[in-house]
Amino acid sequence: MEITLNVNGTDHQVSVAPYHTLLSVLREKLGFTEVKTSCREGECGACTVLVEGNAICSCLMPAVQADGKRITTIKGISKRNELHPLQEKFIEHDAVQCGYCTPGMILSAKALLDRNPRPTEAEVRIGLSGNTCRCTGYQQIVEAILAAAPEVEGMGSDTVREEGQR
Ligand code: FES
Ligand code: FES
Repeated sequence: MEITLNVNGTDHQVSVAPYHTLLSVLREKLGFTEVKTSCREGECGACTVLVEGNAICSCLMPAVQADGKRITTIKGISKRNELHPLQEKFIEHDAVQCGYCTPGMILSAKALLDRNPRPTEAEVRIGLSGNTCRCTGYQQIVEAILAAAPEVEGMGSDTVREEGQR
């Protein structure tokens, strides 16, 4: 079937089968390779994208479910070539090593800060519980998110809640 995905502000029409995941369509049909693939089982969070502002494992979502929805990848959160505060703080706090988990981590952090602009450290750790990092030990990632929070607050949330979502 033909669906339309609005990715980072641009509509893309694409032909998909019912068994295609959002991850496979974004990467393999549309070329958004910044969306990482790893476990494909919903365990690691590497494939996280924002769907209507909510962090979603794209490996678990059938592409047809995203028809007509607004999808944000890591490349969609910076404005006019300026890094998003979360990206800046990840760099400043050495929260990136191999970087494979980083797009998903930052998008999960953005969804968290959009719904809870002043999280505690414990809330940040819970917010990242679906994202696995093999390199950093998490401490720098948590510090980067806490440091970014005041700058992200006031940027405005673009989250649209759907029934049944957290
Ligand atoms: S690739 Fe989707 S959660 Fe691991
Ligand atoms: S920086 Fe390597 S997996 Fe997180």
